[in-house]
Order: sequence, then C-alpha cells, then structure tokens
Amino acid sequence: MNRWVSIITTILMTGVSAQGIAGDPAAGEAKAQACVACHGADGNSANSGFPSLAGQVPGYIAGQLAAFKSGKRANAIMMGLAQPLSAEDMADLDAWYASQTIAPRSISEDQLALASEGESLYRGGSAELAVPACMACHGPAGHGIPSNYPRVAGQWPEYLEGQLLAFKSGERAGKIMGPIAHRLSAQQIHALSVYMSALQ
Ligand code: HEC
Ligand code: HEC
Repeated sequence: MNRWVSIITTILMTGVSAQGIAGDPAAGEAKAQACVACHGADGNSANSGFPSLAGQVPGYIAGQLAAFKSGKRANAIMMGLAQPLSAEDMADLDAWYASQTIAPRSISEDQLALASEGESLYRGGSAELAVPACMACHGPAGHGIPSNYPRVAGQWPEYLEGQLLAFKSGERAGKIMGPIAHRLSAQQIHALSVYMSALQ
C-alpha cells in the first residue's frame, strides 16, 4: 500500500514541462541554488523586485525559462541566467518550484476598497472595456491552470503590477495578455494586483 502511495506521490510531484520532459524535483533543488539569492530558498522571494516561484503551475517556469533563453521574454538578468540551462535543467527547476508552497498574503484595512475594485474585474471582467474575467484563465482562487496560465495568488503585488504595465506598454510580449492589459487603466491594474496577491 505504502509503495503505491509513494509511487503516486512521485508521479504527482514530477512535473512534465512544456517541452514534454519529466522534471526531477530533487535535481531541481540542487540546481536552484543559483536562484536562491533572488527567488528565496523555497521559492518564496523576500524582495518585491523578484517574483516568488513557489507553487507555480507545472510547466510554466520551464516555459518562461525557455522564453528568456530565446529572448522571446526580455529581461537583462534572467536572459543571462537562462543561457546555460538545458531543457532538462528547466524541467528539473520547474518540478522543484511546483512542489513548493507559496506563503499567503493579506490585505491591509486601508486597501479593502481597492481590492474590491480589483475583485469585480478579476471575477467579472468588463463588458464595456471588452476585458474578459481574469479568473477564466488564472482560476477562481488565482491558482492558475497548468501549464500556460500562471498562478497569481500569493505573488508580490508590485511584481504583478509591473508585469501588467509591461504587457500594456508592449515591453513584455504577450499575445493574450498584451491586448487585455492594453485596455486596463493604471488604476485598474493597481487594484487588480493588490487583489490577486491576497488570493489564497
Ligand atoms: C540576480 C537575481 C536573480 C537570480 C539569481 C535569478 N532570478 Fe529569476 N528573476 C529575476 C527577476 C528580476 C525576474 C523578473 C523578470 C521580469 O521582470 O521580467 C525574474 C523572473 C523569473 C521567472 C519568471 C517568473 C514569472 O512569474 O513569470 C522565472 C521562471 C525565474 N526568474 C527563474 C529563475 C531561476 C530558475 C533562477 C536560477 C537558475 C533564477 N530565476 C535566478 C531575478 C533573478
Ligand atoms: C485567455 C486567458 C487569460 C485571461 C482571460 C487572462 N490572462 Fe493573464 N495570463 C495568461 C497567460 C497565458 C499568461 C502567461 C503569458 C506568457 O506566457 O507570456 C498570463 C500572465 C499574466 C500575468 C503575469 C504573471 C507572471 O507570473 O509573470 C499577470 C499578472 C496576469 N496574467 C494577470 C491577468 C489579469 C489581471 C487578467 C484579467 C484582467 C488576466 N490576466 C486575464 C492568460 C490569461
């Protein structure tokens, strides 16, 4: 019985990356030593300038690392770090971070009105702006959908806001997110980011 539990757990913990390579979380943990300084020992980053990677949907991290390596996603720091990574390294790193747990965030009293503005857009979108409900792809609780729709719950609000502004300006390329962010105001992006970060 225990043997089956352990085999099934191993299967569940072993992410299959976008490239179809099965990652090994233990190998990923060793390779992630190069990432600890910015993304935290367990993928919970201590600095709003660096995204948390813990609990990300399987496949997303491998996909983003491949995008940094090819230059499809531009960022000076991550483009350099992704260069030496093989598809296997990316799959291992992906499996390690997917097996970690993201720490929950809460909203302060003075942000409740802002969060409620964000909630209405997140859950219902805006017919007037032709913006779809975010939860259709990022999930009702912000947990994302493997492998392409990232988790947003528990992420640094500053990072979410920065990425939405980058999609809006075109600085971060996004076939899906570009047109959506383009139609949102900076205020709506701010409200959404505060709301999403505190989803659990
Ligand atoms: C010197 C700091 C630093 C180090 C070290 C670092 N990163 Fe990053 N990482 C960043 C920054 C900054 C961003 C945000 C990039 C952006 O704004 O597009 C980022 C973004 C990412 C993202 C995108 C997350 C998302 O939600 O889209 C992934 C995946 C990632 N890093 C993985 C790694 C891995 C794996 C390593 C180790 C091999 C690593 N990083 C090492 C700074 C770092
Ligand atoms: C049709 C599906 C879809 C909808 C609807 C959608 N998203 Fe996304 N979102 C994506 C995909 C796919 C990505 C990953 C983009 C990439 O790989 O370049 C993403 C990425 C993001 C990111 C970056 C996360 C990270 O870790 O870097 C944020 C923030 C985000 N979306 C917020 C939103 C918000 C806010 C809404 C609603 C206004 C929304 N999304 C609606 C599909 C969607």
